[in-house]
Amino acid sequence: MPTTKGLEEVVAAQTAISDIDGKLGKLWYVGYSIDELCASSTFEEVTYLVHHLELPTQSELEDLTEQMINDREAGDFIRELMPTLAQQASPMSMLRTGISAASAYDPDGWDNSAEANYRKAIRIISLIPTLVAYYDRQRRGLDLVEPNPKLPHAANFLYMLFGEEPSQEAAEAMDTAFIAYVDHTMNASTFCARVVASTLSDMHSSVVAAIAALKGPLHGGANEQAMRMLEEIGDPSRAEDHVRDALARKQRIMGFGHRVYKGDDPRAAILRGLAQELGEHTGDPRWYEISQRVEKVVMEEKGLYPNVDFYMASVLHSLGLPTDLFTPMFAAARSAGWTAHIREQYADNRLIRPESEYIGPRDRSYVPIEERAEQPDQPKEAVS
Ligand code: COA
Repeated sequence: MPTTKGLEEVVAAQTAISDIDGKLGKLWYVGYSIDELCASSTFEEVTYLVHHLELPTQSELEDLTEQMINDREAGDFIRELMPTLAQQASPMSMLRTGISAASAYDPDGWDNSAEANYRKAIRIISLIPTLVAYYDRQRRGLDLVEPNPKLPHAANFLYMLFGEEPSQEAAEAMDTAFIAYVDHTMNASTFCARVVASTLSDMHSSVVAAIAALKGPLHGGANEQAMRMLEEIGDPSRAEDHVRDALARKQRIMGFGHRVYKGDDPRAAILRGLAQELGEHTGDPRWYEISQRVEKVVMEEKGLYPNVDFYMASVLHSLGLPTDLFTPMFAAARSAGWTAHIREQYADNRLIRPESEYIGPRDRSYVPIEERAEQPDQPKEAVS
């Protein structure tokens, strides 16, 4: 069987949660286009959609919203851990550890029933913004801000970070950003979550695996790298030289290219508009302007389109998020998709266990250690 490096085009699971048409540049959650959901829906409603595969009625949405508000609180164990995590761990490592720690005191314990897994899913989705906000305030030496039950999920995240209610515009922008990140078919972190779930390991462990995969710069880490590049460029007039120089040095431009989209990523178009609006609103259109120049040069030089992470960087920056919280914010939103995929995997499970193609030597005879020749030219210590 031929090896498909990076599992490109391999169909690893059936899903009813999201679908992409990479040629047309379309993304749907359960049949609804991302454009329509970002324009008209809310994160809570989309969370319901990916978990129940239908939009909620008013009362169903109210029930879920109430459940999410009740589940925002972090337990004592997390609060005790947070000072150490804020001092010692990167934001994504904190999140990985925080979700692991949350499993210790989950009220459903090791119950792996469908009902318990749904409750665990909603708890995880509800808790992540609290973990991120506590971490950030702790490391800045500020008092923790308790969740505000009157605010929607995305607005409450900004409130817990900054200690004041966001403007209507900021709240809506954050909500749109959350929706844009909710799900994206068999991306690396979702795949990891499903692999772990397929062993019938628990919900929290599956989410921890997803967080670990999202952390890498080729996946969720790209939004932070994109922002660092924009900051390094600093001024629109320097964008062109910077990009040409980076490409000449064979560097990847973070926030560009995609395994599935060969043209426009529909989320990038939504976020481009949002980045422009927020730039005008905050009176600092610089990040949007630099981004536009970068986009033009990357297209000229490489024919590559921006993906979701590129304009997300200016959006989150304009909303005041520290750059190293961009990927944790991605995790907060994607947790809705991850947990929906984990439940979907449990509902019709078969162990995910692909093959590998062996390319090493065969049929060797074991040589006792005292008879093995030293290799003088080879470095003794492996380079990590
Ligand atoms: N900047 C410069 N060149 C890029 C590029 C980028 N962002 N993305 C892809 N390329 C080039 C590669 O160098 C390669 O060129 P080559 O054939 O001349 O070697 C070619 O495009 C194919 O790249 P490949 O890594 O095989 O594509 P992929 O499908 O495996 O990778 C990504 C997809 C997303 C990992 C890749 O586009 C990337 O690294 N992007 C930057 C990170 C990023 O934004 N990630 C978030 C994704 S939502």
